[in-house]
Amino acid sequence: MPGPKNLPETYRNVLRLRAVRDFDNRPLSDPDLHAILEAGRWTGSSKNRQSWSVIVVTDPDQKERLAETGDFTDPLRRAPMAIALIQEGAGYEFDIGRLAQNVMLAAKAIGVATCPVTFHRHEEAARVLGIPDGKVCRYGVALGYPAAEIRRSQMSGRKPLNEFVHWNSY
Ligand SMILES: Cc1cc2nc3c(=O)[nH]c(=O)nc-3n(C[C@H](O)[C@H](O)[C@H](O)COP(=O)(O)O)c2cc1C
Repeated sequence: MPGPKNLPETYRNVLRLRAVRDFDNRPLSDPDLHAILEAGRWTGSSKNRQSWSVIVVTDPDQKERLAETGDFTDPLRRAPMAIALIQEGAGYEFDIGRLAQNVMLAAKAIGVATCPVTFHRHEEAARVLGIPDGKVCRYGVALGYPAAEIRRSQMSGRKPLNEFVHWNSY
């Protein structure tokens, strides 16, 4: 199925969004961080519940403590900062996924690299972050300006369109 030609940059950014695990250690500028947080805040959610909030983690010791709560969190150690995504009350995990993707796409659009990370021991993550009972933090996004050299991930690439799409029934 041939796609349209000359697609705009915003569309190409969707296809080019990669998990980046090598960062420059410069902190994000305040305007860049603000732009990314605004994009997160404007994410749509089921019934517009917005059952979420974020914790911006810039303190290196706190970032390390958080990294210890997941199994593949080296990107967090390499990044100058992270945004922890808090699911509050009866919110859907689907909504948190949308929030993460908005953050990552907005970051990409302004030249900021990101990698989603999982806090497998989320109860420990909640303790580290001082999250009250009834709220969960299973995921975060490591952020920073990309390093001059970025290692290619073995886990990238996607299945072909004809394996991804079913028509009318499975
Ligand atoms: C829910 C979720 C959790 C992830 N957790 C981690 C993680 O803990 N550590 C990591 O390095 N990458 C993590 N990733 C990134 C994926 O490994 C990455 O998106 C996938 O391999 C595809 O790579 P690409 O987006 O660069 O093409 C996570 C991605 C998702 C969607």
